[in-house]
Amino acid sequence: MLQNDLLLRTLRGEKTERTPVWMMRQAGRYLPDYMALKAKYSFFERCERPELATEITIQPVEQVGVDAAIIFSDILVVPQAMGLEVQMIEGKGPFLPDPIKQYSDLKRLIVPDVNEKLGYVFDALRLTKKELNGRVPLIGFAGAPWTILCYMVQGKGSKTFDEAKAFCYTQPETAHKLLQQITDTTIAYLKGQVQAGADVIQIFDSWGGLLGPADFENLSLKYIRQIVDALKDEVLTIIFAKGAWQSLDAMAATGAHGLGIDWCIKPSYARQLAGNNITLQGNFDPAKLLSPIPVIEQEVKEMLKAFGPGRHVANLGHGILPNVPVDHARAFVDTVKNYSHS
Ligand code: CP3
Repeated sequence: MLQNDLLLRTLRGEKTERTPVWMMRQAGRYLPDYMALKAKYSFFERCERPELATEITIQPVEQVGVDAAIIFSDILVVPQAMGLEVQMIEGKGPFLPDPIKQYSDLKRLIVPDVNEKLGYVFDALRLTKKELNGRVPLIGFAGAPWTILCYMVQGKGSKTFDEAKAFCYTQPETAHKLLQQITDTTIAYLKGQVQAGADVIQIFDSWGGLLGPADFENLSLKYIRQIVDALKDEVLTIIFAKGAWQSLDAMAATGAHGLGIDWCIKPSYARQLAGNNITLQGNFDPAKLLSPIPVIEQEVKEMLKAFGPGRHVANLGHGILPNVPVDHARAFVDTVKNYSHS
C-alpha cells in the first residue's frame, strides 16, 4: 500500500536499497509556506484545525522530499488535555501559567478521555493519511513523561529544569504519581494515534539528558518502558532521549525498534552500546545545516559512512533550526538519497 516504506523496513531491520531520511521538527519552523500560515493562525489553531495540520505535515514531503511525514502537533497538547493551561508565546516558547508545584495541585489534573480532548489530532492523522495517499509513512509522537513533567512543573522552557528536578527529588511520591498519570494519558493517546493511521510512533525525551543514569531509569525510562510495552506489538516505535547516551543499552532493552541519537556520540560507540538488534536514527548537528552546501554534502556522506549500511535512519541529532535555508535542508536529504554504501 505504501509506495515508499524505506523507514518501516529499516526499523524492522530489513535490508533496503538505501538509507531513509527525515528531519526532526521538519513540519513547520523553516519553510516559507509554514511562515505564511503562522502569520494567519495561532499556534494551537494550526494544531487543532485538521486541514491546517495536514497541510503543514505534507509540506516537507513535497518541498524537501523526505521519506516520512511527522504529524504537525506539539508534545504539550498532553498537559493541555490533562487540564493545564498551555500558552505558546512567540519568540519565547511554551508558558504554563499555573504549573504543578505540590501534591494538592494534582487535583487540578485529569487522565482525560483522549477521544474527547485530543480527537482533533486523530482527525488530523486520518486526513493526512488520506492526503498522503501512500506516498510515505506517517509518524505520530508524544513527549516522554519526564519531559512533559519538566514543562508541567517548571512552567516554561529552561536549560536546567532545576525546579522540575527539585520537585522530583524533594517530593518523589507526588512526582511518581504525576509521571504515572502522564504515562496513562500518553498510552491512550498514542494508541489512538495508531488507530488513526500512524505507522511509526516517536517518543521525544528532549530533557532525558539532564538526568544521571540512575535517575534516568527511575524518572524517565521506567515510564517510557510502559509506553513501549503497550505499543510495540501494534506499531514501530522510536525512542529519542536527547543526551541520554549513557542509557542506550537500557533503552535498547525496552524492545523499541529505533533509538535516536544526537551528534555528541560517535555512531560506532552508539552501536556498541545499543547492540546490533536495533535501528539507530540521527545524528547530524542541526547547526551544520547552516554550513555551505558542499560542506553539508561532505559531512552527510561522512555520517552515512560512519553508521554503515542497514539499521540506520538518517536524521538530525535534534530539531531543524528555524533559520535553515530550504535548499540546505534539501541538500541534506538529497545527499542521503543519492548515497550508495557500495
Ligand atoms: O517534528 C515536527 O515537525 C512536528 C511538529 C512538532 C512540534 N513540536 C511543532 C512546534 C514536534 C514533533 C514538536 C515536539 C516538541 N515540542 C518537543 C520535542 C522535540 C524537541 O525539539 O526537543 C518539545 C520540547 C516541544 C515543546 C515546544 N514547542 C517548544 C520548546 C517550543 C518553542 C520553540 C521551538 O520551536 O522549539 C514549541 C513550539 C513549536 N512546536 C513550534 C513548532 C513548529 C514553533 C512555534 C511556531 O511555529 O509557532
